[in-house]
Amino acid sequence: MQFARSAFPDGFLFGASTSSYQIEGHSFGGAGLTHWDTFAATAGNVVRAEHGAIACDHYHRYEEDLDLLAAAGFDAYRFSTSWARVLPEGRGTPNPEGLDFYDRLTDAMLERGLKPCCTLYHWELPAGLNDLGGWRNRDIAEWFADYTEIIMGRIGDRMFSVAPINEPWCVSWLAHFLGLQAPGIRDIRAAARAMHHVLLAHGRAIEVMRSLGIGNLGGVFNLEWAEPADDSDEARAAAARYDGIYNRFFLGGVFKGAYPDVVLEGLEPHLPAGWQDDFATIQAPLDWCGLNYYTRKLLTPSEGPWPGLDEVEGPLPKTQMEWEIYPEGLAKFLRRTAAEYTGDLPLYITENGMASADRVTEGAVDDPDRIAYLDAHLEEVRKAAADGVPVRGYFAWSLMDNYEWARGYDMRFGLVHVDFESLQRRPKASYHALKEALAR
Ligand code: FCB
Repeated sequence: MQFARSAFPDGFLFGASTSSYQIEGHSFGGAGLTHWDTFAATAGNVVRAEHGAIACDHYHRYEEDLDLLAAAGFDAYRFSTSWARVLPEGRGTPNPEGLDFYDRLTDAMLERGLKPCCTLYHWELPAGLNDLGGWRNRDIAEWFADYTEIIMGRIGDRMFSVAPINEPWCVSWLAHFLGLQAPGIRDIRAAARAMHHVLLAHGRAIEVMRSLGIGNLGGVFNLEWAEPADDSDEARAAAARYDGIYNRFFLGGVFKGAYPDVVLEGLEPHLPAGWQDDFATIQAPLDWCGLNYYTRKLLTPSEGPWPGLDEVEGPLPKTQMEWEIYPEGLAKFLRRTAAEYTGDLPLYITENGMASADRVTEGAVDDPDRIAYLDAHLEEVRKAAADGVPVRGYFAWSLMDNYEWARGYDMRFGLVHVDFESLQRRPKASYHALKEALAR
């Protein structure tokens, strides 16, 4: 790796990210059923109908996993708490085993000198709340506020940072318009409501945490750089619609108190009544902004109703997910986000990484493509920081191979290889390369 810690500003944080359902093993410790369990149990949704019942068994092996983080020289660990583990029905009586688990996990991070960076929702909606309409129901903002109070009442005093919701676009558009994630709905009205309610819930959780005296609160947005597939005005307009739906809707709501016109064109008739009055909550001031970045998309117009766009396959090298590798997009987003949305607010890269079909050969896992991917993206972050963009940290996705949602266990994003039969962990070459670079 070219990358060296010393090329980054003092105090810049390096970490790795995971999420609860993807690693913990949801059949352990009294966690409730989630909409991912039922989505996965429905034929056609997930590769081989795989689910998170055991996943990486992190619930029992968390000390070993935290040891790996600490041994690599990471400063911070971005993890998530599961709503369904804390409140199996989504509301009502908390599960003491769940609260105890996150308590132990927090202390174990602190014992190893790792800063706990918590996300409160990384997609495991309790099935009982999905029965009530889930993200389509405005009441979810209050259900989420209550859950926030319970889990943060227990571990909030020891968090370095907290963000309410991972990737609002995935929670709403991907899951309610494209139908590719739980609950797998394809309906524009459902999507519009989910998009608005996810931001309302974010704002309510921020308000609750402020009232509990918890600081260093942020939001985590996933961004994809959108480019026209050709020089036509129509392709440019298609890219602008994609950019609006994917990137600008959520940043605009939280940081400007407005949704972009290019999205309202299609969604306004489907938003819930009175949506304009919610921005005071949605805009609750934040202390930092997190960006998850993986790839770019090339767009072209398509026949049919709004938003009328198709993705075109691009020419760049691709990862196992078929995502083009486009490191420049990361620097573009850092600059654009600071210039247009967040100003001086600290920015963090809260996820970045790639999947590859990694194999164990003679006890080792060689993943040169991941080393090159991380190196190229870190170089873009370094350049942006050197130019004065206030980026303060970088988290690799992911610490270890895990349950990659609809792609099951096939897509390996980890710095650490997991054998899903024996659950043995094996640091890959990228883990060793990062460790060495973090010491430089
Ligand atoms: C992000 C998710 C994360 C993981 C990566 C590959 O969208 O936040 O859970 O699936 O993509």
